[in-house]
Amino acid sequence: MIKFGVIGTNWITKMFIEAAYKTGEYELTKIYSRTEARGEAFLNTLAVDDVDIVTTLSDLYTNIDVVYIASPNAFHFEQSKVAIESGVHVIVEKPTTSNPTEFSEIERVLAQHPEVRYFEAARHIHQPNFKLIQQTMGELTQLQGATLVYQKYSSRYDAYLAGEEPNVLTRTYSGGALYDLGVYPIYAAIALFGAPRAVQYLPTLLTNGADGKGTANLFYDDFNVTVLFGKSANSYLPSEIYGLKETLSISNIAELETVTYYDGDGQQDNIGQVIDDNPMIHEAQDFADVINDPVGNHVRYSQWFQLAKQVNQTLFDLRSSANIVFPADQKEY
Ligand SMILES: NC(=O)c1ccc[n+]([C@@H]2O[C@H](COP(=O)([O-])OP(=O)(O)OC[C@H]3O[C@@H](n4cnc5c(N)ncnc54)[C@H](OP(=O)(O)O)[C@@H]3O)[C@@H](O)[C@H]2O)c1
Repeated sequence: MIKFGVIGTNWITKMFIEAAYKTGEYELTKIYSRTEARGEAFLNTLAVDDVDIVTTLSDLYTNIDVVYIASPNAFHFEQSKVAIESGVHVIVEKPTTSNPTEFSEIERVLAQHPEVRYFEAARHIHQPNFKLIQQTMGELTQLQGATLVYQKYSSRYDAYLAGEEPNVLTRTYSGGALYDLGVYPIYAAIALFGAPRAVQYLPTLLTNGADGKGTANLFYDDFNVTVLFGKSANSYLPSEIYGLKETLSISNIAELETVTYYDGDGQQDNIGQVIDDNPMIHEAQDFADVINDPVGNHVRYSQWFQLAKQVNQTLFDLRSSANIVFPADQKEY
């Protein structure tokens, strides 16, 4: 059994714990919270026993194999770095780090701890329907680009409108639409088409300088990819990938509920599988495979790592094109 600890006591951590247990590979042994009371309250929502509540990273990183980190984005770097230095594998929520400087520092520390594995929890690319999309891309003649969409009104936007500063909608915590929901379509674009040769981001800014929604353009040699995302409105547009006459249509690029192939005559074929109730099961299983057999799964691991690095760079390039600066960019490492 892989012994794991968690950082973050919000709903996403609960979902990951449930996914981890469904794989049958993991056992939760520690919960980190800034306060014991919140840690206890979170534990009471879970159906697990024998879990320690800890309030320091040094207590968390003793006697566990892997940590799942779901704190506000700005904390991912430091919490991951200390884990790696402690010899603990890291599953960190997207986005891994705030910028490429932090990612390079993670790479440097990983080189000193070659036994440690570092995973970005980009759940959608581990799902069977994403693999189907990758396979079906081969049937598209002369790729013409794509439109990828993930825009969902956030309950935290209500808080923002009420004058509050929710973490995810501030630059202080490396938040904003691009570094939150935008990560999913950007990940999909890079996993499917590779790193773009140039990018441009046109955001709608909040009064605090973070982006509430926006449009990103990814430029490739033979086509462009348009990406729409945001937290201040709902979109029901599907995502589409274009061949000359064929089209792949995906109901939602982060959730992947349905995947439809339209041939050159417009005949449609629903090629997607029914998705699991818990969308994190496949990533939890993939990461367990690597932890249990790092040599046998080295190629897969390296591909995910390189993808995470390219996504991190592209997010930063997009953000830079819109002059959005995070406090994390001004830190010295
Ligand atoms: N994969 C997915 O589907 C998915 C979905 C949602 C979120 N996420 C990712 O999960 C991460 C967490 O997102 P979230 O919306 O859950 O964040 P959040 O609610 O702002 O914070 C998560 C946890 O971090 C701790 N925390 C909150 N504010 C903090 C602060 N100022 N300093 C230190 N710790 C603080 C809290 O735990 P304690 O009070 O117990 O310390 C809280 O439960 C993000 O990286 C996000 O991108 C992923």
